[in-house]
Amino acid sequence: MTTYTIIGTGNMGTAIGNVLAAGGADVTHLAHAEVGNATISTDVVVLAVPYSAVDEIIAAVGDQLAGKTVVDITNPLNFETFDSLVVPEGSSATAQLQARLPKSSVLKAFNTNFAATLSSKTVGDATTTVLVAGDDASAKVALIESITAGGIGAIDAGSLARAHELEAMGFLQLTLAANEHIGWTAGFAVAK
Ligand SMILES: NC(=O)c1ccc[n+]([C@@H]2O[C@H](COP(=O)([O-])OP(=O)(O)OC[C@H]3O[C@@H](n4cnc5c(N)ncnc54)[C@H](OP(=O)(O)O)[C@@H]3O)[C@@H](O)[C@H]2O)c1
Repeated sequence: MTTYTIIGTGNMGTAIGNVLAAGGADVTHLAHAEVGNATISTDVVVLAVPYSAVDEIIAAVGDQLAGKTVVDITNPLNFETFDSLVVPEGSSATAQLQARLPKSSVLKAFNTNFAATLSSKTVGDATTTVLVAGDDASAKVALIESITAGGIGAIDAGSLARAHELEAMGFLQLTLAANEHIGWTAGFAVAK
């Protein structure tokens, strides 16, 4: 059984933890105040925190992430303008994180799913589907198995380079919701 630590106990940390636990995974939640003193021994660590918090987490527990799968769910928006991403053009938050954690397998996942759709397991009439990108094939398989066991869909969306497109999708979806063209309980769905 894959074991998970989820850092961040907000909307996404709770919703992701519920999906993984529903699939039988062993899930430990780590609240903000607990990160500094934490010993992390799970196979996978999900960073369910704002992009701006990632530096602090690496400083606190980065050495413990070596040898583990790290799941980046962030949408690195410029929240002042709501009009751009804050990562260099062509790159992604996930690629930057992988460069900073060379001994970890960093995956992008969940950033194109609003929290409500992870809880409801549906987007409109479709089953919620998580898109997963990263360079470690076995890490992706393990995460996808845990997600699908939890009752929603998951697809291997390609290499770490695809995190760029996933962040663009997440950005676009956020702007659609913020401008009230779609609801926060809706979003992009995958039809197969
Ligand atoms: N909400 C969505 O539908 C959605 C969808 C896709 C992706 N995302 C992404 O998911 C991430 C989390 O979003 P959210 O909606 O779950 O936010 P949220 O409800 O505000 O939760 C954020 C969590 O991160 C914790 N946190 C903040 N700074 C931290 C730090 N330095 N160290 C450890 N924990 C820290 C917060 O703890 P405290 O409150 O105690 O500080 C809180 O538990 C963001 O990157 C967002 O872009 C969100």
